Amino acid sequence: MSDRENLSAPPTLSRIEQKTRKLDFKMASDHLTGSLLRTLASARPSSRILELGTGTGLSTCWILDGMNASSKLFTVDNDPTVAGVAMEFLSSDLRVEFFIEDGTQFLNRFAKNSIDLIFADTWPGKYHDLDNTLDLLAEGGLYVIDDMTPQQTWQESHLEKAEKLIHYLESREDLSITKLNWSTGIILCVKKAK
Ligand SMILES: C[S@@+](CC[C@H](N)C(=O)[O-])C[C@H]1O[C@@H](n2cnc3c(N)ncnc32)[C@H](O)[C@@H]1O
Repeated sequence: MSDRENLSAPPTLSRIEQKTRKLDFKMASDHLTGSLLRTLASARPSSRILELGTGTGLSTCWILDGMNASSKLFTVDNDPTVAGVAMEFLSSDLRVEFFIEDGTQFLNRFAKNSIDLIFADTWPGKYHDLDNTLDLLAEGGLYVIDDMTPQQTWQESHLEKAEKLIHYLESREDLSITKLNWSTGIILCVKKAK
């Protein structure tokens, strides 16, 4: 089995990738992570999904590709230039709402236990504001992070931060967690039902 073959990427993806390269934006999620997010979004029909770190919309594009008609995606980035690319290609899809603001502020918009899937791909919701973010998950809700194995873009001090985050997630008794040494290093957590 090859995990990179026949991924059937969403049709808009290559156009977003072209613009992403022009902008020299190097933090985009890869195709493997995208395909996992699409699968998880498909597993949750009629769901409410948060994406923290829209970037140029690559992961947004995969998530939308997995969502059914009544699911809703809320995505945030504090950089209007990169998020502008995502909006250019994806804002005609009425299932997605874009927010250009700080992620911490964005998290305050949502009620506890109201979200079914969170992809946290930026500082707020991953390296800070983590408890607030996990509080938003409904029972059975999924929390997904990538870039958990050392990346070329990491500064030395980042390794310590990543290890601290992993240990914290492992210590949470309300989460079932699986660490995948695949793609850029994925951690998949589910909030256990009481
Ligand atoms: C790893 S990239 C996200 C990539 C995106 N998932 C994709 O596939 O293109 C992280 C993003 O977080 C944004 N960001 C950084 N700090 C932020 C903050 N405090 N609040 C919201 N967004 C932030 C950056 O502008 C960047 O686009």
